Amino acid sequence: MNYDKIDKKARKVMETNDRGLYTVPTKGLYPYQWNWDSAFAAWGFSSFDPKRAWAELETLFQGQWDTGMVPHIVFHKQSYGYFPGPDVWDIPRVPHTSGISQPPIAATMARSVYEADKHYGRVHMELLFGRLVSWHRWWMRNRVEDGMVAITHPWESGRDNALDWDAALAGVDTSQVCEYHRSDTDHVDPSMRPSQLDYDRYVALVQLARESNWDEKTIAEKSPFRVADVGMTFMFLRACRDLLSIAAEFDQGTDEIEGWIQTLKQGVKSHWNEARGFYDSVNLRTGAFTNTLSSASFLNWYAGIRDDRQLKHLHRILDQVRYGIPSLDPEDPHFDKLRYWRGPVWGMMNALIGIGLAETGHTVLAERLRKDTQELIAEHGFYEYFCPVDGASAGGGAFTWTAAIWLTWASPHAKGRF
Ligand code: GLC
Repeated sequence: MNYDKIDKKARKVMETNDRGLYTVPTKGLYPYQWNWDSAFAAWGFSSFDPKRAWAELETLFQGQWDTGMVPHIVFHKQSYGYFPGPDVWDIPRVPHTSGISQPPIAATMARSVYEADKHYGRVHMELLFGRLVSWHRWWMRNRVEDGMVAITHPWESGRDNALDWDAALAGVDTSQVCEYHRSDTDHVDPSMRPSQLDYDRYVALVQLARESNWDEKTIAEKSPFRVADVGMTFMFLRACRDLLSIAAEFDQGTDEIEGWIQTLKQGVKSHWNEARGFYDSVNLRTGAFTNTLSSASFLNWYAGIRDDRQLKHLHRILDQVRYGIPSLDPEDPHFDKLRYWRGPVWGMMNALIGIGLAETGHTVLAERLRKDTQELIAEHGFYEYFCPVDGASAGGGAFTWTAAIWLTWASPHAKGRF
């Protein structure tokens, strides 16, 4: 395998998706700037162009609301043929944005970008720090319940059609959904995307929040959908730890962030589904576990939670598929190997899980995951996601975050720095 050539291709994917000061996840399917995609992109750029890495993060934060919220999409430049576009979200600010957020991994990636080149990054980190703090404060004020991070829309989780959301989504009334044309299935085979019923529910939730003027309190009162997302809690806890280390390095106050970390560490305990023996999401409207073992459940090590009770599941799953970790347990009756977050393997999730495993001393497992992901991408390309059984490519092609994690983590030439 000519890895130099694949490294070059990865850079090419990122350059092709580069729109100057931000990248799109992939051309066509996702024509705007997405929140956590951009954090991964910044990480990827840091391997060959630190200046461009900081620009990516700074452009993302141009979309930050006065409340501190950083939206899941920033619509810098109108692109027809994407649904739901800025007109549907109807947010009166410039640049136009969506009205929900996404996994807050920016602090973690910013720290890594900074560490790649401290001299150049110092001033950028200093400027971004306050914005990161205000975003984290927004989560703590509006979304942290019993120490767990609540989402108000499946899109906010970054795992759009994960099984975790099904029970809560069943309570969403779709009778008032406006007529719309979903454009995702113009680009990708519908069998690899969320179902039509799910999509109607997504749109209904956007309408409900828009009618609530995007007011967090009103949404919390009115919406049937409120789920404590296990992936979000782990990623946010990790991001708070990274923010804390930045704060310490820059002689900023650390008490507030330390308090957040304590709250979230307590919250992690409420995600433990004792009956099933894994970390799980919780439907906050009923208090019930979702009984879903997804790839997000395995982010505990990444969050700094050294709890090995899930190792037996991890070994079992790795034995059942060729390329771990699938987005849903292959033994779950809903496992669907090509349908988005209900079975496929996502390279960036493997990267986060692998980093956590490596940091907590599970080096053999971490290395296996890295090697499997390396082979997957080297043989099948920079796709959005893949079949975990045979590696068949799925979703969008030439994908930014797949290229980014190749350059920073999966390639044999990656520095392995985090
Ligand atoms: C899909 C993914 C989400 C991602 C977005 C852009 O909605 O589920 O995680 O951010 O696409 O790539």
